[in-house]
Amino acid sequence: MANVIEARDLRKVYKMGEVEVEALRGVSFEIKRGEVVAIMGPSGSGKSTLMNTLGCLDRPTSGEYVLDDEPVASLTDDQLADIRNRKVGFVFQSFNLLSRQTAITNVELPLRYSGKSSGRRQRAMDALKAVGLEDRMTHRPTELSGGQQQRVAIARAIVNNPAIIMADEPTGNLDSKVGREIMNLLLNLNKESGTTLIIVTHDPTIAEQTQRVIRLRDGLLDGAQ
Ligand SMILES: Nc1ncnc2c1ncn2[C@@H]1O[C@H](COP(=O)(O)OP(=O)(O)O)[C@@H](O)[C@H]1O
Ligand SMILES: [Mg+2]
Repeated sequence: MANVIEARDLRKVYKMGEVEVEALRGVSFEIKRGEVVAIMGPSGSGKSTLMNTLGCLDRPTSGEYVLDDEPVASLTDDQLADIRNRKVGFVFQSFNLLSRQTAITNVELPLRYSGKSSGRRQRAMDALKAVGLEDRMTHRPTELSGGQQQRVAIARAIVNNPAIIMADEPTGNLDSKVGREIMNLLLNLNKESGTTLIIVTHDPTIAEQTQRVIRLRDGLLDGAQ
């Protein structure tokens, strides 16, 4: 199977005045299309930095990163934003929905950014249907439970049919039963559409449900991948 992600010797240095922090110190791995992977590691080990890099929110200081056949490490900010919008769907611990907008408008956002106007509403409706929220399309986030809000966020993540979904502690703000439902939904979407799923988590029960765990320690891969 083809690789959807190829990371070669990724390094990230944060400069704060005189002080330099090496958050990633040479990280290399591949992720195949359709894989479900967990990223784990202690606090401060570089998980968020790696996720920001893989999700094209930030660039590595050095190294190579190929996402869905596009080399992204040396792109301009605009090119990076474009790739991110087309190829990555994000799911966050705190949902990150626009609170004054309805579910359907939230889900349409990535389509607006990518300038797709035809069929926008229909695609957003289809995405909400795929997460079981067809009867909540005009609700605002405050009118939805935490689990329902995360479903809206997942609909928003899949509406552009991205190459990868990056989920950062997607069940961290949910009770365990709803958390299991959200995890099952993500795994089902992966099964049905083959979208690669990368989950940052410190929850071993979530990691157990993935096919592979990438472990970080002090900015390096920890053990065999
Ligand atoms: N924007 C930043 N500026 C300076 N240092 C940072 C920044 N983001 C992260 N770091 C540092 O980089 C290291 C890795 O952080 P991070 O990727 O957030 O780890 P994790 O998500 O595993 O907790 C830590 O030492 C952290 O303090
Ligand atoms: Mg973090």
